[in-house]
Amino acid sequence: MYSDKIYNSWKPIQNEKYKQIVKNIDIRPLLKLPTADIGIGSGIFEEFLQKRGIEIKNIIGVDKNVNMIKNQKVKLKNVIADANSLPFKDNIFGFIICLDTIHLIKNVKEIKRVLKNHGYLLLSTFCNRENKGRKIKKIKQQMKDLDLIKEFTIESKEMEIVFLYRKR
Ligand SMILES: C[S@@+](CC[C@H](N)C(=O)[O-])C[C@H]1O[C@@H](n2cnc3c(N)ncnc32)[C@H](O)[C@@H]1O
Repeated sequence: MYSDKIYNSWKPIQNEKYKQIVKNIDIRPLLKLPTADIGIGSGIFEEFLQKRGIEIKNIIGVDKNVNMIKNQKVKLKNVIADANSLPFKDNIFGFIICLDTIHLIKNVKEIKRVLKNHGYLLLSTFCNRENKGRKIKKIKQQMKDLDLIKEFTIESKEMEIVFLYRKR
């Protein structure tokens, strides 16, 4: 499939970013909490974590595209759903991961609704030198009711901005 080809070629680029994410954020304790990966796609972040012996059993994958989920090489629970209208009760996830997907979601209130109070949200978005400032501004506006715990930029083959937020 066309999308398989894209995602396989994307994997090494993503893996470089994931290395920086786990270097800068102590993700193990967060993954002990009930976790959702929104826009999980083919689960290459989970594959990366599992290869490093990091526990992924508490993660529920969420994606609207069943073909992406079919490409997953790790065993996970998945829910096929649109992130704009999530089929979960309020305040249930202690940790939400949303990598390279936030720009595709219009109703980001849904992510905040299903995140527990004091729960953590790991967000990332790719960018370039031209649009970096604009992208940071947009995310900060969208997440202004959460506390920003950490923010950093990854300068690998593709530039990435990473945010760790905490719900009040
Ligand atoms: C760019 S990929 C990122 C995949 C993965 N998070 C990663 O970092 O490798 C975006 C993923 O989000 C999914 N997606 C896009 N819009 C969505 C929505 N509204 N609800 C749920 N999933 C969505 C796509 O199907 C795709 O799998």
